[in-house]
Amino acid sequence: MARHMPRSVSFGSRTIVIYHIVSKLADFHAPRALTMTPILRYQPSANIAQLRESATIAVSAKAKALKAAGRQIIDLGAGEPDFDTPSFINEAAAKAVQNGATRYTATEGILPLREAIAAQANATYKGADRVLAGDIVVSTGSKQSLFNACFTLFGPGDEVLIPVPSWTSYFEMVELARATVVPVAGEALRGFKVTAAQLAKAATPRTKGLMLNSPVNPTGSVYDEAELRSILDLASERGWWVLCDEIYQRIAYTSASAPGAFDVATTRDNLIVINGVAKAYAMTGWRIGWTISQPAVAKAMTAFQSHTTSNPAAVSQHAALAAMTRTAEADAAIAAMVSQFRARRDSAMAILRQDPRIEVVAPDGAFYLFIRAPKTASGEDAGSAFAAKLLDQASVAVVPGSAFLTPDWIRASYAAEQSEVDEAMRRIVAAYASPA
Ligand SMILES: Cc1ncc(COP(=O)(O)O)c(C=O)c1O
Repeated sequence: MARHMPRSVSFGSRTIVIYHIVSKLADFHAPRALTMTPILRYQPSANIAQLRESATIAVSAKAKALKAAGRQIIDLGAGEPDFDTPSFINEAAAKAVQNGATRYTATEGILPLREAIAAQANATYKGADRVLAGDIVVSTGSKQSLFNACFTLFGPGDEVLIPVPSWTSYFEMVELARATVVPVAGEALRGFKVTAAQLAKAATPRTKGLMLNSPVNPTGSVYDEAELRSILDLASERGWWVLCDEIYQRIAYTSASAPGAFDVATTRDNLIVINGVAKAYAMTGWRIGWTISQPAVAKAMTAFQSHTTSNPAAVSQHAALAAMTRTAEADAAIAAMVSQFRARRDSAMAILRQDPRIEVVAPDGAFYLFIRAPKTASGEDAGSAFAAKLLDQASVAVVPGSAFLTPDWIRASYAAEQSEVDEAMRRIVAAYASPA
């Protein structure tokens, strides 16, 4: 006979009753009422009660599901280069595995990789406090680097300035750290780039930091050196942490590399520069990102990471090491990829500009087009309405701007075949012209 042994376990103020079932084969025939296990109803913890699913990943998942069901979808929702990792990187990784790179490494990453990252930073950073390997923490993608930084620097009662639009995960990460998001809206006319004056206006005595991303996802805007300098100067004056996310730095159309914090900063004690291999080297699946910060912050993030994921995959670190040190091959691969992105951008912009009513941010970096959606009758969430129309009627998947706190816009990625991007743009122009 089944024995139900209720036990209660206390977690703080909550008590959970656990039914322990000791069953034998014969018990399957026992009366149902006796053998039913009560279902523990799931309630999201206070930590994630406000968490929203990533809208960008949701769009990609929906597009993939429609494709699997037989629909011909042009998926412009993706946030990853549609190129393969350069083969010299794959080969270096395979060799590293054969040579035994299959074990745990130091939590903060292998020393040669951190030295290569430091050397690259010092090539532009001219401050007295040179970047050392000990200032670097390598993580499982720059997403984890950003989360490590948010979680170790911000907490309850802190306010964090986030330019709007910004990549969807910033809002969630700051909230997961139980800090308060303070959105700072950019102006469409300036490609949505925020100014030091706008940030100063939004600040309060509780402002603890700022998220800064250039080239920007979702607009493709690039902050120039003067714009970056004035924001970093303000942050230094006010004692704010600045999380500079430079993951799209090498995907830039006016110079080989978009300006970064180290091009303009003279000190870096309040800077956390985040970068990684995902976008520049078409290595999204390898999951390697990093932070460069002052040593005390690096130490705190290492301790945090040691209790969550430990080191990023050893093989991926060796792949990243090849990408960072075999610069001639890497630069050639990046140049080839960027020239294709540029051609697609130019062609897509030319198609969109055939209809002068279509407002689109002219992108100088990354691989996104940020397009204002036609107005809805209700005046609300035009971006979601237009994204739904594009998917249902034109079989084009894009991300609604609400994911970036700009509900009147949509984001279309041009990380897809040129012919597909062009066709999608023609469909967007047609959908724009046709009534809802
Ligand atoms: C602005 C921005 N930062 C960080 C990331 C995360 O990149 P990773 O693949 O290195 O985690 C993304 C990915 O889309 C991004 O758009």
